[in-house]
Amino acid sequence: MEDLRIISLEEVSKHNFEDKKSCWIVISGKVYDVTKFLNEHPGGEEVITQLAGQDATVGFLDVGHSKDATEMAKEYLIGRLSENETPKETQTKTSSKPENGSGFVQQFIEIMTSPTWTNFLIPTTLGIIVYVVYKFLFN
Ligand code: HEM
Repeated sequence: MEDLRIISLEEVSKHNFEDKKSCWIVISGKVYDVTKFLNEHPGGEEVITQLAGQDATVGFLDVGHSKDATEMAKEYLIGRLSENETPKETQTKTSSKPENGSGFVQQFIEIMTSPTWTNFLIPTTLGIIVYVVYKFLFN
């Protein structure tokens, strides 16, 4: 876990942009001070200020922000919620178990079931190899 300042939800809620001075939001348990970013946000100020002082994870994820947007957010990172204030479902994947194994299997299945011509060749070739080996062993 990164060495970030622990900020309580109560403190975040004070930066709700009511005074037009500061706007903090929470995304996946991390706290961002986006006050200076508001007028640069491609999606407009309002969508963010509506969630000022609150957890904006669901909204942020629903939009399907690009990798660039996630990178951009790091510039405004000021801290994180404590473990017990972070809802489980909004924690980032990095804090749960790694999924390397299932990722590989999933990728393999995707390739195998993809309808493109080259990927069709892979199972066909495998089938031929199995057939040849079978013939070789039992003849
Ligand atoms: C630090 C926080 C945020 C950053 C750095 C950020 C950055 C961006 C960027 C770069 C885009 C352009 C499209 C893309 O690259 O994905 C974008 C679009 C958008 N964002 Fe954000 N955003 C943040 C928070 C939020 C939040 C909290 C919401 C709403 C809950 C939101 C709603 C939107 C919407 C509605 C668009 C427009 C999408 C479209 O036109 O297709 N953003 N944001």
